[in-house]
Amino acid sequence: MINHLSTKTLFILVLNLSLCTFLFPAPLPVSARLQRLHHQLNNNGSLGFLVIGDWGRKGWYNQSQVAVQMGIIADKLDIDFVVSTGDNFYDDGLTGVDDPAFDESFKYVYAARSLQKQWYTVLGNHDYRGDVEAQLAPKLRERDSRWRCLRSFIVTTDVAELFFVDTTPFVNMYFEDPKDHKYDWRGILPRELYLTNLVKDLRLALSESKAKWKIVVGHHGIRTTGHHCDTPELVTQLLPLLEEYEVDFYVNGHDHCLEHVSCQDSKIRFLTSGAGSKAWLEENKPHESCGVKFFHHGQGFMSMKLTKNTARFVFYDVFGKPLHRWKTSLKKLHTSI
Ligand SMILES: *[C@@H]1O[C@H](CO)[C@@H](O)[C@H](O)[C@H]1NC(C)=O
Ligand SMILES: *[C@@H]1O[C@H](CO)[C@@H](O)[C@H](O)[C@H]1NC(C)=O
Repeated sequence: MINHLSTKTLFILVLNLSLCTFLFPAPLPVSARLQRLHHQLNNNGSLGFLVIGDWGRKGWYNQSQVAVQMGIIADKLDIDFVVSTGDNFYDDGLTGVDDPAFDESFKYVYAARSLQKQWYTVLGNHDYRGDVEAQLAPKLRERDSRWRCLRSFIVTTDVAELFFVDTTPFVNMYFEDPKDHKYDWRGILPRELYLTNLVKDLRLALSESKAKWKIVVGHHGIRTTGHHCDTPELVTQLLPLLEEYEVDFYVNGHDHCLEHVSCQDSKIRFLTSGAGSKAWLEENKPHESCGVKFFHHGQGFMSMKLTKNTARFVFYDVFGKPLHRWKTSLKKLHTSI
């Protein structure tokens, strides 16, 4: 039907395009389906991965020690990939796609063979203080093909689905009281529209998910007894969605600790792995409606292993010593299934 466009149609098209550019000089954040990445598992019916957060400090402050232990555990578990909960590069993200910190804090630190897997990564508030688009750029994947950082996206496997959510733009403080920090909000503004669309996209993705296990990953904690406490914006805007669609685990960083929280009014397990390098900073605080099953102030990381019927996770310290293990079967977690 569109064999030939008339000159008039073309003219109107060009006019429309230029009008659009004139009216909307920057692209508006639009609602769209979240990008979905399919990950083929190593082992039939079993998914294994490590979770690390708050790490990029050029190997210093126990970052390298944690990395070595991750290599050993990754080898034992034959992991499929690594999840980063954000604050990938301290203190202020990357300066650009050529920033040597990418090699010094990532490539050369997580050098073990068993860690040469995809790294699925979200952004933390410290990443937003640098050139955010550099972390998202394909150029970085040319520097190290493991690197996969998107704002919000889905990783689909045979066993579980992981929903990665860009939580920093939810937090009012960074907009209303940024102190001395400059945040790179390109691609986020207008903020209300960005957040509305993100919640809409996540709702759609969760509602369509047929996965046995649903795991949501974000930088900021929803329920935590760590230094930063609950993130109220996420409690009101994200948590109801996670409850409605029976998410099993919410996994975050931001608090520089390892933590397992469960709440009276929720079936979700709240897991913090934000101890890739920063640690020993905070005392945990009592929580009104949630209990702490495990809390460690020092450095470390977490592993997760899932089959169709079972889920288990383990927290390890800087020496690779397992500090806390937990296991469940699907039936116990959600009685409706
Ligand atoms: C993988 O597991 C499924 C179901 O458990 C089975 O039907 C299939 O044959 C297995 N495939 C391989 C390659 O082992
Ligand atoms: C590194 O880990 C050890 C053992 O937990 C701890 O004693 C030390 O303080 C840590 N160093 C830093 C800089 O956090």
